[in-house]
Amino acid sequence: MGKTLRILAATALAALLATTSACSKTRSDDNAGGGGDSGPALVGIAMPTRSLERWNNDGAHLEDLLKKAGYKTSLQYADNKVDQQITQLQNMINDKAKILVIASIDGTALAPVLQQAADKKVKVIAYDRLINASPNVDYYATFDNYKVGQLQGQFIVSKLGLDAGKGPFNLEPFAGSSDDNNAKFFFAGAWDVLKQYVDSGKLVIPSGKKLASNDDWKTVSINGWKTEGAQAEMDNRLNSFYTGGKKVDVVLSPNDSLALGIAQSLDSHGYKPGGDWPVLTGQDADLANTKNILAGKQSMTVWKDTRTLGDQVAKMVDAISKGTAVETNDTKTYNNGVKVVPSYLLPPVVVTKDDVKSKLVDSGFFKASDLGL
Ligand code: BGC
Repeated sequence: MGKTLRILAATALAALLATTSACSKTRSDDNAGGGGDSGPALVGIAMPTRSLERWNNDGAHLEDLLKKAGYKTSLQYADNKVDQQITQLQNMINDKAKILVIASIDGTALAPVLQQAADKKVKVIAYDRLINASPNVDYYATFDNYKVGQLQGQFIVSKLGLDAGKGPFNLEPFAGSSDDNNAKFFFAGAWDVLKQYVDSGKLVIPSGKKLASNDDWKTVSINGWKTEGAQAEMDNRLNSFYTGGKKVDVVLSPNDSLALGIAQSLDSHGYKPGGDWPVLTGQDADLANTKNILAGKQSMTVWKDTRTLGDQVAKMVDAISKGTAVETNDTKTYNNGVKVVPSYLLPPVVVTKDDVKSKLVDSGFFKASDLGL
């Protein structure tokens, strides 16, 4: 969508939401979205951490949209601490929130607090990450997580010419935090593309990580999605297995926070952009990583325009509030162990050096000056 169109769409969305939330004021307190006589409904927004750029953008955008539409909001960040997130959710429920929007830290730890929410008829939207092991997750809005991994895998195949029979290449695979339900989808998407080349010997894993099936992803996961964790692991692999002039040709990184640590490790081991720097994937289009893409230190990122996720979730909040049908487009994929959660999946987009400007700047996601362009 062009910038002008986006602005028009955002304005129209805010106007639409404003009208409908005004209506919701006349509803009874029992209704998920109605504030009854006490004013507009309170929407609790629980985000995992401020330490990653994307969650700051996600929280700010959603809060802004809902406030402009007349809702009250409580936006909380939990420093990646599960107990802190649970306390925040309890406080929101005590403050009579009608709807909770939750980007969980540990996708399996929230069942008891969600039961408290359900007991008070509070509706729950899982934001970006599915919440497992609870019947009390009403909707899920996310990007197509499997597709994210698939795009990373396909990028590696075409960049290295694996489909044209080239190889063998040295690959180091990484996966995301083992408590994040998304991480297994990212890995599965990528591994379903890459595994055949590992099996045929065109991709070799010098560190010896065994990934016979997608279920083995936790053997390469970096807990908490930590940049330092990824850097230390890459240092380890390079020091132990890349001796005697052996070089890594490609690194599968599930997201940008890991890619940043991996790039720091490559730097300190003397890899040179434009020279022997390996193919390195990522996800999120964080500012530091986008700069790395421009500097030849990261090959791609999978961009998830978090503004569109916020737009979609704001529409969900509004539909719940009005008691109208909530738009979903996937009712099969996201089984949380108790139920299949009706989901809305948005499309992720590959960004490389060639289209940083056309995709990230022209859409208004970054200013040209942010990137030194
Ligand atoms: C999100 C990614 C993010 C990662 C680390 C995942 O659940 O989908 O966009 O990079 O968490 O915060």
